[in-house]
Amino acid sequence: MAYFEWAEDMVIDGGPIDKDHRLLVDLVNELHTATARGAGREVVASILSRTLSSTREHLTREETLMQQMGFPDLEQHKCGHEAFMENLYGLQRRLEEGGITVASQLSSVLRDWLSLHIRRNDKEILKFQRRRQREQQRAAAQAASIPALGAKVTPKLPAKTKLLSR
Ligand SMILES: [Fe+2]
Ligand SMILES: [Fe+2]
Repeated sequence: MAYFEWAEDMVIDGGPIDKDHRLLVDLVNELHTATARGAGREVVASILSRTLSSTREHLTREETLMQQMGFPDLEQHKCGHEAFMENLYGLQRRLEEGGITVASQLSSVLRDWLSLHIRRNDKEILKFQRRRQREQQRAAAQAASIPALGAKVTPKLPAKTKLLSR
């Protein structure tokens, strides 16, 4: 069993966002394997550096997507991303300064944050998308049931209409 397991409840878009998340999960596992085996600081620093750039790329992609879809809590979500990146840069600095204990903390910090953030915050993107689709479907169904403005409405008469004589 991997240190950080991908699970079905982490699915967001079945596309680029999930692909990014899966890549980050793989990087966390790579980082964990390296630190658990006591790999040197250079090896750990190199995996961490790839993880940081992939995370940054992913967060930017996610923020662009949220902006395009008019996600209402974009600013709040972005704050969470920024705080996480700050935390990671802090750990990277400490690793560079020779903090040996930092290496073992890295994979757990990344796993715990990603696991919670994907399941709690990123999931809101999926919920918003579904809500918007339902609203669009409802609006389309409503539009189809109302004749277009200006359209000539011809009343339907029975095929044979008997005129009543007095
Ligand atoms: Fe994400
Ligand atoms: Fe996110």
